[in-house]
Amino acid sequence: MHNFEVPVRSGPSNHGLSARRFHSATRCSPRRQSRCYQRNLGCKSTWPIRKLIEQVLEGIAELSSAKMEAFGRCIALRTGQWALDCRSHVPTASEFQKRFLAYSNTMTRGAALFSDSVSRAAQKNGDMPQVQCLNLSAMEITLQLVLAQVGQIPKLILTSPPYPGVHVLYHRWQVRGRRETPAPFWIAGGQDGNGASFYTFGDRQEKNLTKYFENCLEAFRSIGRVADRQTIVVQMVAFSEPREQLQKYLGVMEEAGFVECKMPHLSNARDGRVWRTVPNRKWYTSQNVPSGSCSEVVLFHRKA
Ligand SMILES: C[S@@+](CC[C@H](N)C(=O)[O-])C[C@H]1O[C@@H](n2cnc3c(N)ncnc32)[C@H](O)[C@@H]1O
Repeated sequence: MHNFEVPVRSGPSNHGLSARRFHSATRCSPRRQSRCYQRNLGCKSTWPIRKLIEQVLEGIAELSSAKMEAFGRCIALRTGQWALDCRSHVPTASEFQKRFLAYSNTMTRGAALFSDSVSRAAQKNGDMPQVQCLNLSAMEITLQLVLAQVGQIPKLILTSPPYPGVHVLYHRWQVRGRRETPAPFWIAGGQDGNGASFYTFGDRQEKNLTKYFENCLEAFRSIGRVADRQTIVVQMVAFSEPREQLQKYLGVMEEAGFVECKMPHLSNARDGRVWRTVPNRKWYTSQNVPSGSCSEVVLFHRKA
């Protein structure tokens, strides 16, 4: 982030304005920002939920460590999404509270189970795995970064890129399936600012999805640079028009330097791939769209 101060002259005299002061005068204060991020949560049915989330976030802020706070925010996000995103009826405050407790239990139990399994595997292998999070776009991954942070070429790359032509809003919830709210940023303590297509490799309505396929190629070229011939790339993807798009998608993978590996022992379809029907597909994707977006395929690739 650039942090500099530039004296600004307005007319003949300098009023002592500086870029930084101007910036802080115009910037959203945390309170104002919270209010921006609570958009469309002010009606009779949603404000009790908003109030509860506010209380939950206040409680979370008092937790003893940043890790606990982050985990608490995840529980609040999960419950918030359950309560607000694409539901025909917004739940009552007491339903929200019950669900928050249920998610708290499931998620803490899940985290403990995961931690136990990792410890047991580590004991067996005599090596405790280290987690490294690189918070960046797939297009920005470099071998240098991976070697510096992880220390080796990955054996497995497991991913799920944005789906071509499929309508999914990643950065908003849709209250009653309609009005969009940026509340996930408020709950996660993050910054909004990018449009929907930022999260989807491009606008799903663009003719031929040119931008989508360009970005997809760029992302997999960059992923290819951190892989070797032993690395297996496993990805789950769905298509709004599977017939045309799957072939095009496989072409992009080839152009990025990968060959597909079929796994006959895993396959459940005539094309030799693994397909599944998507559970809990949001209602807006299950209506008025080709059935393709309800089926996902798992693709396996290695470097050519
Ligand atoms: C099909 S979803 C996969 C979601 C993930 N598997 C999950 O269960 O949460 C595609 C994801 O790709 C992310 N994405 C979009 N552009 C990206 C990029 N350039 N680099 C990395 N991730 C990106 C989107 O934000 C979205 O979360």
